[in-house]
Amino acid sequence: MFTLAHLSDLHLALTPKPSELAGKRGLGYINWQRKRKYIHRPDVLAAITRDLQARSVEHVAVTGDLTNFSMPGEYAWARRWLESVGQPAEVTVIPGNHDVYVRDAQGLPSKFWGDYMRGDDGLERFPFVRRRGDVALIALSTGVPTGPFLATGRLGDRQLAGLAEALEQTRERFRIVLIHHPPVSPARRYFRRLVDADDLRTVLAAKGAELLLHGHDHRRSLAWIAGAGNKKIPAIGVPSASAQAKHANEDPAGYTIFRIDGSAGGWRCETVSYQRSRDGDIGECARFRVY
Ligand SMILES: [Fe+2]
Repeated sequence: MFTLAHLSDLHLALTPKPSELAGKRGLGYINWQRKRKYIHRPDVLAAITRDLQARSVEHVAVTGDLTNFSMPGEYAWARRWLESVGQPAEVTVIPGNHDVYVRDAQGLPSKFWGDYMRGDDGLERFPFVRRRGDVALIALSTGVPTGPFLATGRLGDRQLAGLAEALEQTRERFRIVLIHHPPVSPARRYFRRLVDADDLRTVLAAKGAELLLHGHDHRRSLAWIAGAGNKKIPAIGVPSASAQAKHANEDPAGYTIFRIDGSAGGWRCETVSYQRSRDGDIGECARFRVY
């Protein structure tokens, strides 16, 4: 039995200095002041973190948007949070679009969280692979700087080729693909989509995977996408881990635990989702088997 917890989209935000408010950060800050600072709350994240710490899991996956404006202080804050969750070998991190919010921030996820974003080979490049028990975690990065009003992501040909190779090399294991942007987006999220999602789904349909975990949409979700042969791959999203209450199409804070056992050809995987209620209690809200 291997237990994995999945959290995402912390959106730890600091106030930018006036000199940092040019361009995209300035527009993001207006949105933050008007709306998002009432949604993403450090006290909610602290409560979710305490709840998770009280359960015994072997590994934690964090699928991006740890920061909000890609400010150095936000990466340092996220680093302290990661250290409260576990050692770099026990926690796997990938960046989201908010972690590469502006061009100048491109090296910062690696500078602050590099040891949480490394494969078994010690190399820091995407995709990286971590083998834990019978599980292989295959970590992708879709974070690329984009213009104002865009929250799109891109994998690119090099990562897609690396993903195909990693899925092939780990095919005897329970392969879990970690990615910030979902592989399927509704039309209303066109400007927030993964632009090469078609290419991603082509690789997954050719090579297969047992599970895909994503963030970005701030919703608890399950979509079945085509895998190799006639098998389908469950693509599962979690809400933001800091969302204080339900907002529009977004869910209140929560996380999911996966319990995986069995072997190739006969995997079993149970998911248990936890959610914070309006009065602050955190409890189980859904439980089902994907295998
Ligand atoms: Fe997010």
